[in-house]
Amino acid sequence: MELPFQIDLTGQSAVVTGGSGVIGGVFCRALAACGAQVAVLGRSSAKSEVCAESIRKEGGKAFAVAADVLSRDSLLAARESILQRAGGINILVNCAGGAVPGAAVPQDQLADAVPGETTFFTADIEKIHRELDLNIYGTMLPTQIFGECLTGRKNANIINIASMGADRPLTRLAGYSAAKAAVANFTQWAAVYFARSGVRVNAIAPGFFHTTQNHSLQYNPDGTPTVRSGKILRSTPMERYGDPEDLIGALLYLASPKGSAFVTGVILPVDGGFEAYSGV
Ligand SMILES: NC(=O)c1ccc[n+]([C@@H]2O[C@H](COP(=O)([O-])OP(=O)(O)OC[C@H]3O[C@@H](n4cnc5c(N)ncnc54)[C@H](O)[C@@H]3O)[C@@H](O)[C@H]2O)c1
Repeated sequence: MELPFQIDLTGQSAVVTGGSGVIGGVFCRALAACGAQVAVLGRSSAKSEVCAESIRKEGGKAFAVAADVLSRDSLLAARESILQRAGGINILVNCAGGAVPGAAVPQDQLADAVPGETTFFTADIEKIHRELDLNIYGTMLPTQIFGECLTGRKNANIINIASMGADRPLTRLAGYSAAKAAVANFTQWAAVYFARSGVRVNAIAPGFFHTTQNHSLQYNPDGTPTVRSGKILRSTPMERYGDPEDLIGALLYLASPKGSAFVTGVILPVDGGFEAYSGV
């Protein structure tokens, strides 16, 4: 019997937006380890090149491409350069995104706001707007630009990155939660739209992950969890943060034609049980 999980993406080409980021970088390395040629797409080609170079040093195939996922022109130029170098695109991972600093409100509820503190009424709506743009427009636009090259390709598939906030909004993060809900909704829309054109579209919904960037939000200088962090860990039955590498199995399962050829429109949680837990 041939097991479905000997994943071989040799001969396939993958584009990972936000490939210069923490999770995107892990995704690039995992796809390359399965034989795919990876275009590491980020705003800064220098940052993307660090990731691409580390893959090449490990014997994989990767190159850096600079593009802003919010700019049609820069994505069109990136597409041109990727097609020249890789000959085509089979897999698109829309990983660029995240919360925009300053867009969150400081309290879970209005009733807890202290005088002078930012509330939703005084929140910087431009930052919330940027958060919505980055996460949903920054998923739709690359899907439009790169998706066109996917139709008719072998194992064509798109993987978007949602969040726990997609299903149930996360406190404080109105813009981020709404944007990720839109990412999940768009994933299902696109799955239906592309279904008979041979392109699968799925999403991964990560729970709470520990990365160097959010270490200070999650832990006090003495190593104890912050108040919000304690709440997160109590709401995660496995009582730990995810490690970005915990997402690799979901990525490769969705990316591989062997494991998930009949899977489309799925929002796959990787969350240590967060979504399943009622809190009681
Ligand atoms: N870290 C978590 O706990 C967590 C949880 C749920 C979902 N996510 C999602 O996973 C994805 C990756 O998150 P991460 O933690 O690796 O963050 P990260 O900040 O390390 O990576 C995001 C990457 O996107 C890039 N980017 C931002 N704006 C861009 C633009 N306009 N054009 C091109 N690239 C742009 C950044 O340069 C960065 O390389 C995001 O979509 C995030 O919302 C993360």
